[in-house]
Amino acid sequence: ASVRTPLVVGNWKMNFDHLEATYFVQKLAWLLRDAHFDYKRCEVALMPSFTSLRSVQVLVDADRLNIKYGAQNVSVTNQGAFTGDVSADMLARLGCSYVLIGHSERRKYHPVDDANIVDQVRAVLTAGMRPILCVGEGLEERREGIELEYAVSQVHDVTRDLSDDQASQLIVAYEPVWAIGTGMVATPSSAQDAAKAIREDLAQTFNNHVAQAVRILYGGSVSSKNAVETLDQNDVDGFLVGGAALDADEFSLICRLA
Ligand code: G3P
Repeated sequence: ASVRTPLVVGNWKMNFDHLEATYFVQKLAWLLRDAHFDYKRCEVALMPSFTSLRSVQVLVDADRLNIKYGAQNVSVTNQGAFTGDVSADMLARLGCSYVLIGHSERRKYHPVDDANIVDQVRAVLTAGMRPILCVGEGLEERREGIELEYAVSQVHDVTRDLSDDQASQLIVAYEPVWAIGTGMVATPSSAQDAAKAIREDLAQTFNNHVAQAVRILYGGSVSSKNAVETLDQNDVDGFLVGGAALDADEFSLICRLA
């Protein structure tokens, strides 16, 4: 187990309208309501679609829930003639704590270059939220045996020009592309190897203080059956959960295990 407070993030992707989102949040809060679950010892966050964020905000505020939430994407510009885009300030005003950046599905279906990802990270930080930077190798890199270098350089390229303060706000999600939605989960030791390599690079680029502050999550076919062993690893600080985050019972179980 790591020394940092674990963070379990549910990425709903393009699932749940605002009514389903409201129902899920109520059910999750109810499932985690008892004294055995301590939100100070495990942070819980949900990433709904843009259209559900307001409903989640109203519910979280009204019931004073400890559940955090954020967005799955953000524009690099702050306002103006950008039809269809949503700015970081708008998300911050909705009470978002986090924004996913560079998820492999965004990289695949909406190819953005690394420069854009850098700008998204900056926009999120400037608006006072925390970026969850998603990285991870595909099958090809894994076959070539260069998965660690690949993930490390994805983080390095995006973060190297940040200040120490900015870098320490960062959350990294290591999600090997071949493990996403496939049921093929990375072994606990390979999740640990990637998290460790990323942390070592952060220590070199910034300093040890920054490297120790950054939470590094594992994502890719996480379930209540494989969560414990992965979270036992020193450098893995939580999960970015996809499919298993669509079932409140299963998701609450993962939160409890963390
Ligand atoms: O962002 C989380 C995700 O990409 C992992 O999805 O369904 O493999 O847990 P899943």
